[in-house]
Amino acid sequence: MSLLQLDGVTVAYRGVPAVRNLSLTVAEGETVCLIGSNGAGKSSTLKAALGLVPVAGGSIHFMGRAIHGQRTESIVGMGIGVAPEGRRVFPGLTVLENLKVGHRAGAGTLRERLDEVYELFPKLAQRKSQMGWSLSGGEQQMLTIGRAMMGKPRLLILDEPSLGLAPLVSADVFRAIAAIGARGTAVLVVEQNAKIALSASARGYVLETGSMVLEGESAVLESDPKVMSAFLGEA
Ligand SMILES: Nc1ncnc2c1ncn2[C@@H]1O[C@H](COP(=O)(O)OP(=O)(O)OP(=O)(O)O)[C@@H](O)[C@H]1O
Ligand SMILES: [Mg+2]
Repeated sequence: MSLLQLDGVTVAYRGVPAVRNLSLTVAEGETVCLIGSNGAGKSSTLKAALGLVPVAGGSIHFMGRAIHGQRTESIVGMGIGVAPEGRRVFPGLTVLENLKVGHRAGAGTLRERLDEVYELFPKLAQRKSQMGWSLSGGEQQMLTIGRAMMGKPRLLILDEPSLGLAPLVSADVFRAIAAIGARGTAVLVVEQNAKIALSASARGYVLETGSMVLEGESAVLESDPKVMSAFLGEA
């Protein structure tokens, strides 16, 4: 059984479809990426799964239960951690306070979760008393992911974690994402940077103007010239 399953999902804004008939699965413990260029419908797909935008068609299941049409709060409460686009940390809270916000009942003790997050992101441990606003872009991204991991999710959803980061910093962030996957958390990562997303995932889906055009094992997609030429003109 899939942990997350989207079947024929359509998302429309004022009647104009942004995502058409999209199907996607993430198995328990699997790392999957959804890649596509600007405006392809990646965030809309995630928002539909999280109940942040209504689905105009299709169905969405998490752990076998239908979640389409449900409230975001109850969907994430089932065990989904979210690192949204644009790394929204609380600027006026310290790193530690930001992390505490992500802790939830049933996720084990605060100490256990902090130990895990600090192990994944040693920089956050060094900066635990520093204010959110004073962090670098990469550190803010780490904090956003760390906060999502504080709830001990079964599925971690990330929207463009590499956005606006230098290549070396993106590589750091994706190393942590791979480590999260290796420890057994399922991961669905949305990215414009196809190369880095495919390198950190087992399977991938390629979205183009609202439609899924390719899917397969990441290793196969990585060497597919159609994939690389579709992004940033990379060959
Ligand atoms: N709230 C909205 N109202 C109207 N149109 C929207 C809304 N949100 C997104 N869209 C449109 O839906 C399409 C898909 O947008 P979406 O944000 O899902 O793309 P994306 O793949 O995440 O792009 P990016 O890489 O730039 O984040 C775009 O054409 C966008 O303009
Ligand atoms: Mg987006």
